[in-house]
Amino acid sequence: MARARKRISLNVNGTDYSIEANPYDSLNWILREELGLTGTKRGCDTGGCGSCTVMVDGKAIYSCMYPVVKAAGKTVETIEGLSEEGDHPLQSAIVRNSALQCAYCGPGIIMSAKSLLDSNPTPTETEVREALVGNICRCTGYGKVVKSILEASIEIAKSR
Ligand code: FES
Ligand code: FES
Repeated sequence: MARARKRISLNVNGTDYSIEANPYDSLNWILREELGLTGTKRGCDTGGCGSCTVMVDGKAIYSCMYPVVKAAGKTVETIEGLSEEGDHPLQSAIVRNSALQCAYCGPGIIMSAKSLLDSNPTPTETEVREALVGNICRCTGYGKVVKSILEASIEIAKSR
């Protein structure tokens, strides 16, 4: 039996949206297919890789596993919301350090890092590694990514 579509409101990167969604639509599907925000990736689609990570009310979540109806009335932040020019300190540090290869994992890693730095502006290396535990990179490994996040944390702290 088909279930009724539901109208919900949510805020994505500072913009209010009112959308109609099926109860089983994921936030990932709506971001990419309805709102055109393809910076958020879809990898495994089963909660195993982290490439779809976005922030909901400040917390990093897997958007492939998150029903969009759960985001009603909430604030969503995606990679597109970080900066107009792709020059947020996290992005700049990752580019400067050549920390990614194919970069498919990048938006998810960066959003996990953003969530960490918003709640813990001066994390230790261990805390950074713990924050990335749900983000899988199959190309470059994590050394330069962790270095980049620690550098970005210093840069953000200086600019405060
Ligand atoms: S696409 Fe969501 S965890 Fe892999
Ligand atoms: S750089 Fe290719 S998956 Fe991370």
